[in-house]
Amino acid sequence: MLADFNPSTTTLKPMSIGGIVVDPPLTLAPMAGHTNHAFRVICREMGDCGLVCTELISGHIVQERSARSFKMFDWSDVEHPFAVQLFGSDPAMMAEAARMVADAGADIIDINMGCWVPKLVKKGAGAALLRDVCTATLVVGAVVRAVNIPVTVKVRSGWDAQQITAVEFAHAAEDVGVQAVSVHGRTAAQGFSGTADWNIIRQVKEAVKHIPVIGNGDVFCAADAAKMLAMTGCDAVMIGRAALGNPWIFRQTAHELNMGETLPAPTLTERAAVALRHARLTIESTYLNERQAVYELRGQISKYHLDAPGTVAVRNRLVQAETLADIEFILTPLLEE
Ligand SMILES: Cc1cc2nc3c(=O)[nH]c(=O)nc-3n(C[C@H](O)[C@H](O)[C@H](O)COP(=O)(O)O)c2cc1C
Repeated sequence: MLADFNPSTTTLKPMSIGGIVVDPPLTLAPMAGHTNHAFRVICREMGDCGLVCTELISGHIVQERSARSFKMFDWSDVEHPFAVQLFGSDPAMMAEAARMVADAGADIIDINMGCWVPKLVKKGAGAALLRDVCTATLVVGAVVRAVNIPVTVKVRSGWDAQQITAVEFAHAAEDVGVQAVSVHGRTAAQGFSGTADWNIIRQVKEAVKHIPVIGNGDVFCAADAAKMLAMTGCDAVMIGRAALGNPWIFRQTAHELNMGETLPAPTLTERAAVALRHARLTIESTYLNERQAVYELRGQISKYHLDAPGTVAVRNRLVQAETLADIEFILTPLLEE
């Protein structure tokens, strides 16, 4: 998309979220099933990912002190700065969950107001809050008052084309003390269809007074990031799907925007080495048993493009892997290519 935009005319300036410096202003989007400890560390290690975020975690089960939620407290010091994303619609429950997450070392609490899966929406959480700006503001205000660390929110443009509420909500959220807003330029009704509307990101940026705005949606390369920054005036760019299997995208983008030149793409050997590290780190750090973790890894590792163009041999073998040893057996020969 927009690959003809000239990235060399854009410079990246560090962003501050309530005193937490995000430098460069390129952030990893929260993605359930992907942005666990292993992947967040890999994105940091590959360079120039200014902020990482956990997958969404239920405020309800955190507040209940359920063993399940504590298993998702998988972060460690090497990830700083990082945000922990919570979802829920009950202000008191979210406040309590936020306190527990802050006590467990998070730098930032991010509140999910974009997820449209029916399980969440039925309970009034995630994107459902975009239909109810009043409750959304109560939730955010309660969380802000509960913790001493910055609180951010991640929204979609609105619930549907008739209810575009991101601007109204961003105003209200800033007034109750939110320190940054991330905006994915699609409505909840859109899911992932169509293209992201970056105008809404610009409108939110123009509407808020002092807090940074993070633009999100359909950034697949450095030129897209440059174009989003220029078109919307946003303070940072959040990258999701394009980072899957390509944790180099942050370094590639920062280099292209800051230095005006394109970095060479990682070689097959480099991709295989990072994919292998991703698999090993996952098994070391996951709360899942090895078999469950390898099932998740099959899809994640397949995204590293480990096959020569037009072939699928490695991918076909990866989808049959049952253990870490199977993945190691498939990937190790690629390290010698
Ligand atoms: C597999 C997957 C899981 C996601 N999980 C979350 C999530 O847990 N919390 C959230 O706020 N957004 C979630 N999202 C949305 C992304 O954070 C992001 O807003 C969206 O993918 C658009 O950005 P992109 O075009 O750079 O991918 C998810 C997206 C994907 C593809």
